[in-house]
Amino acid sequence: MADLTVRVGNVQFANPVIAASGTFGFGREMRVFQDLSRIGGICSKGLTLLPRAGNATPRVAETASGMLNSVGLQNPGLQSFLANELSFMAALGCRIIINIAGNDHEEYLEMCRQLDATSIDAIELNLSCPNVREGCMLIGSNPQMIEKLVAAARQVTRKPLWAKLTPNVTSIADMARAAESGGADAVVLINTLLGMAIDRKLRRPLLRNNTGGLSGPAIKPIALRMVAETYRAIGIPIVGVGGIMDGNDVLEFMIAGAAAVEIGTASLVRPTACQDIIREIETIMELDGVSEVSQYTGTLALWNG
Ligand SMILES: Cc1cc2nc3c(=O)[nH]c(=O)nc-3n(C[C@H](O)[C@H](O)[C@H](O)COP(=O)(O)O)c2cc1C
Repeated sequence: MADLTVRVGNVQFANPVIAASGTFGFGREMRVFQDLSRIGGICSKGLTLLPRAGNATPRVAETASGMLNSVGLQNPGLQSFLANELSFMAALGCRIIINIAGNDHEEYLEMCRQLDATSIDAIELNLSCPNVREGCMLIGSNPQMIEKLVAAARQVTRKPLWAKLTPNVTSIADMARAAESGGADAVVLINTLLGMAIDRKLRRPLLRNNTGGLSGPAIKPIALRMVAETYRAIGIPIVGVGGIMDGNDVLEFMIAGAAAVEIGTASLVRPTACQDIIREIETIMELDGVSEVSQYTGTLALWNG
């Protein structure tokens, strides 16, 4: 039997497959398609302190090998989540990571304080949403602000802290170093790349928000490069995300340096993606003669490296 367990800091996962924020809700709709106790973990839709209606529609558009979204963090707010969703998620039998976004420092810290008292396994600080005007990506594009926020969050919670980084920066490794200096337990990369789609006849952007975040297979080579680059820059674990569609993609991310991965757009294309991908990993491990999946992590041999 292949050993699929992985560790991200102090948290052990039954396998490296985690559902990515915003593409799995709180698991309610997805449990119809698969046994969620078999996947490594679920990262919740991004939560804010107060409820958000999100951006005006249209807010998704298909692109070559990917999609754009400008959902804008539509969510019921932390209080409603704690009252109505947390106990459901906690009973699913997999690891639960809660993704949070704030308009400012204090909002992030207040959410961390409230989540500290719950049974969740980790907090993912979304420092990377390209679809909201305030906080978030503004903080995530500035290493000093990342370090300050992570260090402040570290003071108010004992939960493992994962910093989710934006690829819309010159050097993602600098942002990851800042998160590490602030005391993050792991970095998660990447969130979506800022993009645009245009309706030629209307001469208008397809998305009502004008721009949106690009995800799916189109961004995989960028995400892989960023994971490989960041792996050489920091000592804390990396959770790799971006365009993963199958088991082979997962192992490529692990070779580049990821301890675990998150699956986003693939679940929108194929709701059973997470469960299918776990099976594919097992099959490939057998072919490769590898008994522990964690043995793939960080084994990339760069040419002239
Ligand atoms: C419709 C949609 C909504 C998303 N919402 C969030 C969110 O609330 N918080 C977050 O950190 N990332 C969010 N993301 C980004 C994904 O978690 C992931 O980082 C990104 O899509 C790249 O992975 P993928 O190519 O596998 O989708 C969203 C992505 C999509 C497609």
